[in-house]
Amino acid sequence: MITVMGQVVISGGGTGIGLAAARLFVADGNRVHIIGRRAKVVQDAAATLNAEFGADRVVAHTADLTVLADVERVAGAVAESGEPVDVLVNNAGGIVGGAGRDATLAEIEAEYRANFEGNVLTAVLLTHALIPQLARPGGAIVTLSSIAAVRGPGAYGGAKAHLHAVTYEWAASLAADGIRANAVAPGFTEDTEFFGPAMSEQARANRIGQSLLKKPGTPDEVAEAIKYLAGATNVTGQILHINGGTMLGR
Ligand SMILES: NC(=O)c1ccc[n+]([C@@H]2O[C@H](COP(=O)([O-])OP(=O)(O)OC[C@H]3O[C@@H](n4cnc5c(N)ncnc54)[C@H](OP(=O)(O)O)[C@@H]3O)[C@@H](O)[C@H]2O)c1
Repeated sequence: MITVMGQVVISGGGTGIGLAAARLFVADGNRVHIIGRRAKVVQDAAATLNAEFGADRVVAHTADLTVLADVERVAGAVAESGEPVDVLVNNAGGIVGGAGRDATLAEIEAEYRANFEGNVLTAVLLTHALIPQLARPGGAIVTLSSIAAVRGPGAYGGAKAHLHAVTYEWAASLAADGIRANAVAPGFTEDTEFFGPAMSEQARANRIGQSLLKKPGTPDEVAEAIKYLAGATNVTGQILHINGGTMLGR
């Protein structure tokens, strides 16, 4: 496994997959910035990781990354270290859904706006704010897509598919600076806040049943893929699927 040492920024690093990735990067000696809207969540996560590793290298930022002023404030705070950003993990996001076929136009509009803003705008704004600070050469962008990008549902899946397009754009436009851009596309991953407080046993069993390996994914498994792409010096413009064989190929 390639080790990345330096400065890492992880959106949504206070919970789930982002927190698991933060733990891996802190364990490798990096300074890690974690960002989320709930102050207590990111502050508690930073305190836990700093205590766990006897370090003071995890910095919590409270910000809504759909809000330009928040994004600019975080980018300014990261710049205060005077060090380049080696790895940017665009992990913030989630599904807002269920408007359904009987939804009103207003409900459909709200669903599409929320999924676009929460998944696409968060990643695009943060990336463009941090591009000037990315290490040249050697910087890496890893963005969280989803199996939904390939098979739906539409509002959320479309937003994640959009992230494939921007990943390809960043890979092409930043390669000359020695910066790589890739995405990780997880399938069903447990022990995060993604599905809310409760999932029925039936819904859980259905998801597990769709995978060839007949098990749920874990945040640690996705975090390992993020870390791999962060250090994979000959990989750019790729989408790495982590779904236990729920979907083959692509
Ligand atoms: N779990 C799965 O099965 C699965 C499958 C495929 C893809 N994914 C993707 O993996 C990523 C991580 O999800 P997860 O499963 O770890 O769920 P999660 O625990 O809900 O993590 C999402 C994180 O993003 C933060 N966030 C959301 N909107 C934000 C915003 N506007 N500004 C700043 N932070 C924001 C949340 O914190 P705050 O609420 O405090 O802001 C939270 O910490 C997401 O992009 C998700 O779409 C998950």
